Amino acid sequence: MLYTFSDVLKKINNEVNTLKFEGKPESLFAPIDYILELGGKRVRPVLAVMAYNLYKDDIEKSIPIALGIEIFHNFTLLHDDLMDRADKRRGKPTVHIKWDDNTAVLSGDAMLIESYKEIAKTDPQYLPEVLSLFSTTATEICCGQQLDMEFEKRLDVSIAEYLEMIRLKTAVLLGCALKCGALAAGSSQEDAESLYDFGINIGLAFQLMDDLLDVYGDPATFGKRIGGDILCNKKTFLQITALQHEDSKDQLLDWINKIDFDETEKIKAVTSIYDELNLKQTSADIIHAYYEKGIAYLDLVSVDYAKKKELRELAKSLLTRDS
Ligand code: IPE
Ligand code: IPE
Ligand code: MG
Ligand code: MG
Ligand code: MG
Repeated sequence: MLYTFSDVLKKINNEVNTLKFEGKPESLFAPIDYILELGGKRVRPVLAVMAYNLYKDDIEKSIPIALGIEIFHNFTLLHDDLMDRADKRRGKPTVHIKWDDNTAVLSGDAMLIESYKEIAKTDPQYLPEVLSLFSTTATEICCGQQLDMEFEKRLDVSIAEYLEMIRLKTAVLLGCALKCGALAAGSSQEDAESLYDFGINIGLAFQLMDDLLDVYGDPATFGKRIGGDILCNKKTFLQITALQHEDSKDQLLDWINKIDFDETEKIKAVTSIYDELNLKQTSADIIHAYYEKGIAYLDLVSVDYAKKKELRELAKSLLTRDS
């Protein structure tokens, strides 16, 4: 049977809620429960289970992969918020704010280990391949995050470099979730690869949308501080494109190079440069193009069209998300 998106989401949330990290010292484990209980969209575990469900109905068997990937994702958020000096996540204080920097590092490390413990529960028949992809993906995310940090200091980052950076920091984990789910259900290599490419393309769209929402999102739903990327001169599609426009370049460079500034004023000024160039629309168009490219890969997967309905709808819902 084909489980619906809401069936799978409910199942994932139930499973995440049964995870309890209650070891000592409490200050190491409490942040893990804290971040996992704050929720989030659970996009990656849902993708893993849905990919499994394309081939098999006993979705229970895909739960360790789903949980491992969600715990891993949440680990990256602890370290990411420290690196980005972000104070708010899912509408609540980030771990390094609620506790401290060292706790965010160490609880994150502990989560990375917990994620491997879950992955290790995968059916031994499929474990080597799943583990290998998971580890490759984890290293790629470190590479992407390092590039993301280096790019903040540069002014000559190209769109191609940006796309490679977001492929590494974000898209590969969506691809990994889908491919691991499929492999654990005994799919063909061809299908697993097409699902991976579907994930990469919706993952690129996902990060482009994240960057767009960072400027244009609704503070009531986004859960993170609007304008955070502008404040730390994050290389985003918006910033790189604006720097390529001769008429707005100098004005934007002024703001990027300012040491002392009023935060609200900088966010307002940079946003109006983006507005002027109509970058919200340009960005939305590119997001849509990656979505379409993703769907073309999903179409290649050799299961009935009807079976892919939920994955198609999930991908589509990411285009209109507000958090
Ligand atoms: C945030 O991921 C980090 C990015 C890769 C943009 P999500 O937007 O999936 O965050 P949650 O898990 O739903 O909170
Ligand atoms: C996140 O990119 C990528 C990873 C967490 C690996 P961002 O830094 O844009 O994510 P948010 O906006 O803080 O969620
Ligand atoms: Mg961040
Ligand atoms: Mg970041
Ligand atoms: Mg972001």
